[in-house]
Amino acid sequence: MIKLGVNIDHVATIREARKGKEPDPVWAGALVELAGADIITIHLREDRRHIHDRDLRLLKETIQTKLNLEMADTPEIVGIALEVCPEQVTLVPEKREEVTTEGGLDVRGHLSALKETVKRFQDAGILVSFFIDPVEDQLKASLEAGAQFVELHTGSYANAVGEEAVGRELKKLMAAAEQGRDLGLRINAGHGLNYLNVKPILSLPNLEELHIGHSIISRAVFVGLDRAVREMSTLIFSAKK
Ligand code: PXP
Repeated sequence: MIKLGVNIDHVATIREARKGKEPDPVWAGALVELAGADIITIHLREDRRHIHDRDLRLLKETIQTKLNLEMADTPEIVGIALEVCPEQVTLVPEKREEVTTEGGLDVRGHLSALKETVKRFQDAGILVSFFIDPVEDQLKASLEAGAQFVELHTGSYANAVGEEAVGRELKKLMAAAEQGRDLGLRINAGHGLNYLNVKPILSLPNLEELHIGHSIISRAVFVGLDRAVREMSTLIFSAKK
């Protein structure tokens, strides 16, 4: 059964447009759970452009499913994550000037630092996932670093134009999911997925979790958060049969 993780960062993005109290991502966490999501995902960025420390702490206290914290491997954020103890952390690369996470984490290039971070999280009982491009060497490096999960970056698939390019990107994801499974890694996927392109992703072998944000929050503006989450859940559920 594939689990749906809903990224609610953009509720906080709207709040930050006025630097006020509403809409509150903590309320969104409860509504998204009531609509049937399995996981709440948030990204505490170093510049705090949307999610704030207070949101993380309150969501950890109030949500009843699973909290997945996307984060960069920096001393400050690692310290906060170890204090708050979400069920899972997903380590992502972070650049201040980007509008959203751009590429996957270069696990091979930061192997020894990541190994240490993974150990600290696992000693605290926190599951660790790496957000990586669908590349064999990054999968191998993820295993060497000790991550339990990899989240395959679906951004290139989502941005591909034309049947051929989409097919090519899908093939890369399929191959990476197979390689990951053979290495004993657990497989998640996300980034750029929406109501139109999610279906083929559901056939990735051993896929456990999908993490979807922008498209669900965008639809929620028109149909409400409850319906937007339920529509994505229905798509995921019906495509699996
Ligand atoms: N997974 C990761 C690691 C991300 O950084 C993001 C964006 O915050 C998502 C999934 C969700 O991407 P989108 O908002 O495009 O659905």
